[in-house]
Amino acid sequence: MVRALRLLAVLLIVLLAAGWGAAALVRAPGEELGTAFARLLGRVPGGGAPPAAGGIALPPGSNIGGAFALVDHTGRAVTDRDYRGRAAVLFFGFTFCPDVCPTELGNVAAALDLLGADAARVAPLFVTIDPERDTSAKLADYVALFHPAIIGLTGSPEQVAATARAYRVYYAKATPPGASDYVMDHSAFTYVLGPDGGVRTLLRPGASPEDIARALRAALG
Ligand code: NI
Repeated sequence: MVRALRLLAVLLIVLLAAGWGAAALVRAPGEELGTAFARLLGRVPGGGAPPAAGGIALPPGSNIGGAFALVDHTGRAVTDRDYRGRAAVLFFGFTFCPDVCPTELGNVAAALDLLGADAARVAPLFVTIDPERDTSAKLADYVALFHPAIIGLTGSPEQVAATARAYRVYYAKATPPGASDYVMDHSAFTYVLGPDGGVRTLLRPGASPEDIARALRAALG
């Protein structure tokens, strides 16, 4: 039984890795890699419901997500355990992001407002995938623009890479033609976690505040 489960887990990892590879190949011009991945995920038999509004519900025991050790925007070393007991909404991005990240963080902020008093039972987490530029101080300024409850997380490149790996987040440096500085190409799913730290829902890029609030309410139980 344990062996079968292990085999299943390995299969799932291979499928996900293949999915990312395929998504990179089949993504439409200008389409975010994460969107292409979500599109593919919807087509994989047993890969979850099509990524419609409301997101992809993950079965209990799914191996997306897990432990992380990072540094918050006040400079404090934190781990996933610091946020247990609350639901969490987790988003990966970078503060120099011109469009996707600000839009998603704005939607997270609006979702927190929709939750009213329940928002106190939610940890809204923004993890940078650009730790080189996104220091704690930079993150502190940035998350405050969106909502006072949002927690910015950074860390060493290794800590960030390990966290991104656990959540199957794709990111890479890219320098647009004519630009003097790099940007980060990155997948843009929003993860909704239950109070036990397990991922409950994977929301595709552009999920509305209502979608996010609904997933958080479901995660709170
Ligand atoms: Ni972004």
